[in-house]
Amino acid sequence: MIDVDGQKRAAGEAAAKLVEADMVVGLGTGSTAAWFVRALAARKLDIVGVPTSQATADLATSLGIRIAQLGDTRTIDLTVDGADEIGPGLSLIKGGGAALLREKLVWEASSRCVVIADAAKHVKTLGKFALPIEVVAFGHKITALRICDVLAECEIGMMPALRRRDGEPVRTDGGNLIYDVACGRIEEPAMLAAALKSVTGVVDHGLFLDLADCALIGGPDGVFELEP
Ligand code: 5RP
Repeated sequence: MIDVDGQKRAAGEAAAKLVEADMVVGLGTGSTAAWFVRALAARKLDIVGVPTSQATADLATSLGIRIAQLGDTRTIDLTVDGADEIGPGLSLIKGGGAALLREKLVWEASSRCVVIADAAKHVKTLGKFALPIEVVAFGHKITALRICDVLAECEIGMMPALRRRDGEPVRTDGGNLIYDVACGRIEEPAMLAAALKSVTGVVDHGLFLDLADCALIGGPDGVFELEP
């Protein structure tokens, strides 16, 4: 039986095998994506990585991977990134590592996106993992009230909670704040995604819909693949 960290590692290593020389590769954020970055570095291919966070940029650089900023390369051939939940049709919740905005920007600029995760992330319905929502700091308490209204319209009766670490609000790489919403079940992810995007002050949310082309899931007995 492979433990959770072993499952993450196996998924990351399987994804690293998809990379070919001369590719531009989007580099995800989180512990599973870090296994991918390590396995990719070990292959010593001539590639350029486009990191989705400062943490990933630091890791990739320390391992000798050449990196570039989003927009400074040709189209990204392949992005590999983790997720907090993988639901029906490869709908995802992301943002547990507070990198959702840069992740989504990189994913949307990629020809192909592969999500990697341990088996516990694979769920029947999204929403057990609290949905991260990135908001601008200015007026964020007002924005949170507007988010409440939108949640109520989507029949989600939970309050957004400002994410803190060591008592202080967590700041994203872009200087924004994160609110987490323990939705429980998200029955209509597309409706919720559109409604959240309509709130002024919301920069983006952790629902990644119709973006993943394939999932490589590390299970207790090895890696398996899922298509949308
Ligand atoms: C960061 C993310 C991560 O990919 C997600 O939180 C999964 O992390 P991990 O691989 O450590 O479980 O979305 O914003």
